[in-house]
Amino acid sequence: MGLVSLESMCRKAYENGYAVGQFNINNLEWTKSILSVAQELNSPVILGVSEGAAKYMAGYGVVTDMVKAMVKSLNITVPVALHLDHGTYEGAYKAIEAGFSSIMFDGSHYPIKENVAKTKELVETCKRLGLSLEAEVGAIGGEEDGVIGMGELADPNQCKMIADLGVTILAAGIGNIHGKYPANWKGLNFDVLQAIHAKTNGVPLVLHGGTGIPDDMVKKAISMGVSKINVNTELQLVFADATRKYIEAGKDLDGKGFDPRKLLAPGVEAMKVAVREKMALFGSVNKA
Ligand code: 13P
Repeated sequence: MGLVSLESMCRKAYENGYAVGQFNINNLEWTKSILSVAQELNSPVILGVSEGAAKYMAGYGVVTDMVKAMVKSLNITVPVALHLDHGTYEGAYKAIEAGFSSIMFDGSHYPIKENVAKTKELVETCKRLGLSLEAEVGAIGGEEDGVIGMGELADPNQCKMIADLGVTILAAGIGNIHGKYPANWKGLNFDVLQAIHAKTNGVPLVLHGGTGIPDDMVKKAISMGVSKINVNTELQLVFADATRKYIEAGKDLDGKGFDPRKLLAPGVEAMKVAVREKMALFGSVNKA
């Protein structure tokens, strides 16, 4: 199967009370681990690519070619979307040109009028090309590609303005942040989530910052219209942890333990475990 948009993937999730995981990729190991677990669990999956990660992987075209070739050679038959994460206006057009199947345009830092104008244009472009468009209202806090944002609670009326443009899905700040949650984090704001859901006319919602949110909060958010959950930091943490243990145990100095295929293997296995856990929590297992 080729790459698909989020349109039917997230609509199906919204109507059936589960969420599809977006797992951000950084390289071949990330991509292969996530795709193979999605296939193993018969789950739809979204591969997220930030602009920084695309640059790291030598450009949008390299990412598209790698993902498409891997889907084919690993015989992946579950629905796979290749999604730009927190795209700028310019980045959105570059990813579209390179063959991404889905775009997030993050205009949350613009005044609402400008966010509306740019999102409207990108909704039209994406619709014409059969791609999906995720928009954002109320910046998600934490760090993303070196930019630190404060956690915001999105204004439900602004969410309605953006949702009414015909976006496929909507990301709205409800107290979630990227990266590790601080010890004094107040948790997700379900009153704001409820108000946003009530105003946005059945547009599926996205929960960013999926690393470290307690399971019961994740489940509650899904029951209130969240149909896509983004996970990035968690895979980085488990990969780094497993790799550190391998090196601290001196295994890289044992025989050919320095071979990258051996050196990276514990990290790969740790990522697979994390993806399995998230897919089970989100309820997307056997929903391909
Ligand atoms: P985490 O890095 O906190 O998992 O958030 C990922 C995310 O929201 C990407 O857009």
